[in-house]
Amino acid sequence: MKLGIYQNHPEFGNKDRNIDHAVTALHNTGADIIILPELFATGYQFTSREEAVSLSEKIPDGKTCCILSELAASQKIFLVFGIIEKDDDKIYNSAALIGPDGFIGKYRKTHLFAEEKFWFSPGDTGLNVFDIGIARLGIMICFDWWFPESARSLALMGADIICHPSNLVFHNCQKAMVTRSLENGVFSATANRIGTEERGGKAPLIFTGGSQILDNKGNVLTSMDAKKTGVSIADIDVKAARNKKITEQNDRFEDRRPEYYKALFD
Ligand code: ACM
Repeated sequence: MKLGIYQNHPEFGNKDRNIDHAVTALHNTGADIIILPELFATGYQFTSREEAVSLSEKIPDGKTCCILSELAASQKIFLVFGIIEKDDDKIYNSAALIGPDGFIGKYRKTHLFAEEKFWFSPGDTGLNVFDIGIARLGIMICFDWWFPESARSLALMGADIICHPSNLVFHNCQKAMVTRSLENGVFSATANRIGTEERGGKAPLIFTGGSQILDNKGNVLTSMDAKKTGVSIADIDVKAARNKKITEQNDRFEDRRPEYYKALFD
């Protein structure tokens, strides 16, 4: 199975341009699944909640979902992408999953980062795994990586691949995801963006690129630098993620001792 990541350099607020670039890049890739960055069509550094609301859309009826649905159908591909979701008077930092037959599901970011707390409502979908037939996809968004419970929960729910749309401003995530993949025995696909945003007199945000796909042992299958945009693809045997053995005598999940992890559940 071919798993891909798309790394972009969006122009803030220029949704038409950013979606166009994605649609062009995602033609004829040969991939079965492609992960796009967090908020890939809008940019990230908002100066007010109103600005974020003005760029928000309904899932799945908004323009971004409709255009990517057409793409998924014509390319026979599954897409996971970040989007500002509008739901009545709330907006969420969300990810949508769309396949060749249309909309499949969505995830609202659980752990909001920094100023995101001013614009977005905290996610209320919980972490979920979507079985798309060719793989079981767990979705988390960017800063969710900082909380190992996110990836662990997805793995315990049966995820083969952690799909990780991101707008990373730290360099630690790419390294931390090696451990997330290794300890959970899952593939992971972190799709990040590049470029700088410096809006409203705020400190610049420098996005770190370095999008990567890791196997279920934490090996890097493909990674991008902090300069180039585009698609990168890795061939994976998704079933490998269903074997949780570490040694003949050890298993990632069977060896857990939850009775000694009570502090986690307070
Ligand atoms: C982030 O969660 N976008 C850092």
